[in-house]
Amino acid sequence: MIKFTNVTKIFKSDILSQPFTALDHVSFNVPEGSMVGFLGANGAGKTTSLKIIMDFIRPTEGEVLFSNSLGKNKLEIFKNIGFLPERPYFYPTLSGLDFLKFMGKLSGLSLNQINDEVKKWAPIFKIEFALNRELKTYSKGMLQRIGFLATIMHHPKIIILDEPLSGLDPIGRKELKDVIIQVHKEGKTVFFSSHIIPDVEEICDRVIFLKEGKLVYDGSVNSLMQSGKTQDFYISAHVPPDFVPHIKPKESIKFPDDLQKFLVSPELKNEFLSELITNQFNVVSVEMQKPSLEEIFYKTRGQA
Ligand SMILES: Nc1ncnc2c1ncn2[C@@H]1O[C@H](COP(=O)(O)OP(=O)(O)O)[C@@H](O)[C@H]1O
Ligand SMILES: [Mg+2]
Repeated sequence: MIKFTNVTKIFKSDILSQPFTALDHVSFNVPEGSMVGFLGANGAGKTTSLKIIMDFIRPTEGEVLFSNSLGKNKLEIFKNIGFLPERPYFYPTLSGLDFLKFMGKLSGLSLNQINDEVKKWAPIFKIEFALNRELKTYSKGMLQRIGFLATIMHHPKIIILDEPLSGLDPIGRKELKDVIIQVHKEGKTVFFSSHIIPDVEEICDRVIFLKEGKLVYDGSVNSLMQSGKTQDFYISAHVPPDFVPHIKPKESIKFPDDLQKFLVSPELKNEFLSELITNQFNVVSVEMQKPSLEEIFYKTRGQA
């Protein structure tokens, strides 16, 4: 749907300062129908990439290609994109409803259409109760939700959100994630940036990872998880405190009530278990070690 192709962006802020390469030959894809997380630490180049996609700034080199399903010319294409910037501006004295009317009109919707959209989405976005209140009374989470509602009212095919979850408390994050999932279920492609890996791991099927302006990964979350799998097993059992197994585990952690958790390689798992069972120790669980996306990036890849 969006093909970011070999994009380089060099900022030259003034004559005296050194040119700064914010993006260095970056290529990635946002496939139609996907939910893609755009990851990277602060300063990695996420916002710069999104601004280039939105045509707010131009790349120094490379280009952004849009599929025909988005439209044949810029006007059609941008009508089919809903964008929520990193720091949206909200007129403080407008009510939530007036803000939505204003944004809807900018997108070319009639008042009837706007009312229909608000009726449909406000309850889902849990913002119905505040529609007549001024935006200056809204919490950060409420502002993010109403801002997001404004980006989808005109039925765009793809939604692009820049750090929509940042600065929200756990409940605010959960509520916004729920609406992102809901909007994706309606068939929309979702592309959102975040510097928080678990948020992306939880709801995305694909991930694009930038580090210091360079692409580190572009692909499915599943294949990334597979690549990081060690296949080792955690075996938890109640054992006497002085128990020394014949097979040395890779790791053992003691918990209260004589519970111990052992990390064992797959070839030794059965033998290890049979020793516990022969001794009539109570085996509580056997589970395959499942690293988080964060661990894969930080340990296995060693480059995030
Ligand atoms: N207009 C600009 N002039 C100079 N440097 C910029 C400009 N915009 C962004 N940068 C730099 O580019 C890098 C990437 O920034 P940004 O895309 O905002 O990162 P992210 O969104 O991943 O946190 C940062 O080091 C930032 O300081
Ligand atoms: Mg940013």
